[in-house]
Amino acid sequence: MRNDLGGHPATEPDSGHVAEPVRSFLQDVVDGLALSPAQLSPKYFYDEAGSRLFDHICELPEYYPTRTEMSILERSGPAIAARLGRDTLVIEPGSGSSTKVGLLLEHLEAPAGYVPVEISGEHMHTSLAPLRERFRQLPIHPVCADFTEPFGVPAGVPGHSGAVIFFPGSTIGNFPPDDAVHLLGRFRRLLDEHGGLLLGVDRRKDPEVLKAAYNDAAGVTAEFNLNLLRRMQRELDAVLDPDGFRHRAVWNDTESRIEMHLVSQGRQSITVGGREFRFHDGDPIVTEYSYKYSDNGIRDVAARAGFEITDGWTDERCWFSVLYLTPATG
Ligand code: AVJ
Repeated sequence: MRNDLGGHPATEPDSGHVAEPVRSFLQDVVDGLALSPAQLSPKYFYDEAGSRLFDHICELPEYYPTRTEMSILERSGPAIAARLGRDTLVIEPGSGSSTKVGLLLEHLEAPAGYVPVEISGEHMHTSLAPLRERFRQLPIHPVCADFTEPFGVPAGVPGHSGAVIFFPGSTIGNFPPDDAVHLLGRFRRLLDEHGGLLLGVDRRKDPEVLKAAYNDAAGVTAEFNLNLLRRMQRELDAVLDPDGFRHRAVWNDTESRIEMHLVSQGRQSITVGGREFRFHDGDPIVTEYSYKYSDNGIRDVAARAGFEITDGWTDERCWFSVLYLTPATG
């Protein structure tokens, strides 16, 4: 497997890698606010406060994806493990708190290792402790990298042949289809012909269910969305009024996606990176797309990325799918 794609083992202290994400956060914010409508990347939701808010979202009665996917992994774990086979190296891009992978590992026969890939190295080390405790025989090789950029598995990690990339949580839904194809195409190139991709995908369903999931009654999703502005204040010295923006989540049926917006209440401006961005009443900042897939939709994305969907598991309401994709032959 390649090791020339950037990223580095998380165990190597590197003073240079702290400043880098800060620079790109600023650059991405300035570039995004200059667009019309203004746009911010959802990958910046997950600072410490944002990660805590997201954990809270996952507990909300309206937010079905996490518990639905976990119920699929629980119920179909043995079947999934049988499909993946023995000696599998599990690579997880954007592993976060590494909570779901245990549901997979507990059924796998003699897994060759686990490679969590996470941008926040510190967060990763704390979240791996319970996993190390629970799976004492399991070699863990953390990689500190932004999975939306090219990354590789450290040289010398055994079990590359037949490795499986675990990409749960419908994270793929954050990417517009062309970007999703690009991302899955890069995953494809990390694998050999014996490898596979275990992908969690949120499905199209009643729009009322979708809208409720992103407009929860307790207002946690609103806080999660607004935290992006607070993070800009904290980390980028942005001058702005978070109370001047309101959370909104709408269902866009044509594009098959939930869109999260921060809507300007009245006229105001955001100053960041030496630039001023003006907003009129009602102007949105687009902060997140969450695509919901039909069978045909995800099959098309998979095919364009060089995969075919060979197996799938779902829940009784068919709200979420865990799919197994293998490199397309011929
Ligand atoms: C982590 C991208 C799957 O799209 O549902 C939850 C993030 N945003 N509530 C999603 C999210 C608002 C979530 N993903």
